[in-house]
Amino acid sequence: MWSFEEVMGLVSAYYEGARVPWVPTREELLDMVMRLANVSPNDIFYDLGCGDGRVVLRAVKEGVKKAVCVEINPTLIERAKENAKAINALDKIEFVNEDFFKANLSEASVVYMYLLTSVNKALRPKLEAELKDGTRVVTLDFEIPGWRPVQVVEVALPMRTARLYLYVKGVSDK
Ligand SMILES: C[S@@+](CC[C@H](N)C(=O)[O-])C[C@H]1O[C@@H](n2cnc3c(N)ncnc32)[C@H](O)[C@@H]1O
Repeated sequence: MWSFEEVMGLVSAYYEGARVPWVPTREELLDMVMRLANVSPNDIFYDLGCGDGRVVLRAVKEGVKKAVCVEINPTLIERAKENAKAINALDKIEFVNEDFFKANLSEASVVYMYLLTSVNKALRPKLEAELKDGTRVVTLDFEIPGWRPVQVVEVALPMRTARLYLYVKGVSDK
């Protein structure tokens, strides 16, 4: 028998217009995401396709100045807001319920993406046009084709090995 949470998870995994289904980043990877991005209180942290908000919530716990949760699926963005409310973090997070191709990324100092190689490739011109030099971009499992990672870290999970890529705008795209 499936639980209510499991059924809701499946229902919300697919949303018309989403380029990638919702597959949350495992909690065990969040330490490494923060460490790799060298997150600090000066940062403005974006998660493109933020799902239930777990990555931006973690960035807030690390003390970032602001986090931005961009998510096309309204059910997920509501869940992200509830999760932020539960830890009193609503004032630290901007919730943007829109296609990440339409979001303005110019103020980001860290961008996180758990998407697909094809979507990273489609986003690349936007990242090159809008991100400031020095912005760190961390992707999980899927590379940004044509960019050179400055660091790649593997993390063993119970069923697989995850791979995190760190890129730096102005270095990786040259
Ligand atoms: C693999 S999940 C990652 C979720 C979250 N970043 C995490 O790591 O837990 C990808 C997310 O991107 C969202 N998404 C897909 N296409 C999108 C788009 N064009 N604009 C905004 N969000 C999108 C999906 O709804 C889903 O929540």
